[in-house]
Amino acid sequence: MTNTFSTTDTDIVLTGDRATGPLHLGHFVGSLKQRVQLQANHDQTILVADMQGLTDNAFTSEKVSSNILNVVADYLAVGIDPSLTTICLQSHIPALAELTMYYSNVVSIARLERNPTVKSEITNKNFQRSIPAGFLTYPISQAADITAFNATLVPVGDDQLPMLEQTNEIVKKINTIAQAPILRSCHALLSDYPRLPSTDGKNKMSKSMGNTINLHASEKDIRLAVQSMYTDPNHLKVEDPGSIEGNVVFTYLTAFHSDQDYVDQLKQQYQKGGLGDGQTKKILEECLQEIIKPIRDKRQLYLDDKAELIRLLKEGNQKANATANTTVQRVRASFGLNILEY
Ligand code: TRP
Repeated sequence: MTNTFSTTDTDIVLTGDRATGPLHLGHFVGSLKQRVQLQANHDQTILVADMQGLTDNAFTSEKVSSNILNVVADYLAVGIDPSLTTICLQSHIPALAELTMYYSNVVSIARLERNPTVKSEITNKNFQRSIPAGFLTYPISQAADITAFNATLVPVGDDQLPMLEQTNEIVKKINTIAQAPILRSCHALLSDYPRLPSTDGKNKMSKSMGNTINLHASEKDIRLAVQSMYTDPNHLKVEDPGSIEGNVVFTYLTAFHSDQDYVDQLKQQYQKGGLGDGQTKKILEECLQEIIKPIRDKRQLYLDDKAELIRLLKEGNQKANATANTTVQRVRASFGLNILEY
């Protein structure tokens, strides 16, 4: 799969992550790598989405609050450079909450209930009718996140496409009300791996299911995760031909190994027979150990200086608030509610 849209230098980039846990390899190939590349020649903002994290954690808010700085350290450790990218904290940008309120009036409950990502989350979390209003409406708040910064390009995994579709619907409605293009529509930047499979090959990566490899995984975590990876269940003897389809070890080798010609050779050998899972897992483990070690080490250094991480967030928020405040003024004015601003 290739990127569905090309980028231009004039694209404004915004993306975010729910601060409900440390980031993992899925985030890394799905979006973080693109962000590191984009920051060189784009205006880029990254939002630590703590308020969105609260939408299903109001009574377990520690899960969110304790992860905010972890996520910032993850960003820095993979190479997000705060002198090139604005890193900011959602809860401290009041204009985002205001925009959410204005946008709520142009979105129906039925439309919210149709969002396929939210729909499957509601089923997975077994909310039934007790779904928090904030959870059902988080796509509106995400539209606020995106439009507040005039973003046109959003690097995300494919599960986020419904949020972008809803954002663009809101943009159209507000622009119709304003009778002017005061908001910009956006598009996704999908990676070649918009959805890396979990280590068990079954589900989407999810920390709670224990099928992820975190960006700060220890040597032992990495070893155990690779050893338990799903391969071809019919590949019983080394001599047997094996299948690479759905074989998580090969998916990861394709996503992460620096020498893809070598990976192609391994694939051929595996399919012919004569290459054992122990061997392919050993190659993958080495490759992942090499990628994760420097990230893990840097992340720890950043976490050792929490005051500096907080300073960075404050600096980012100052910039983010300035931009978001300008957007909310335009939206307020489009409803004629700017009478105190004369
Ligand atoms: N929904 C995203 C996630 O699940 C987080 C997020 C919040 C986001 N606001 C955003 C992503 C704006 C892209 C743009 O991690």
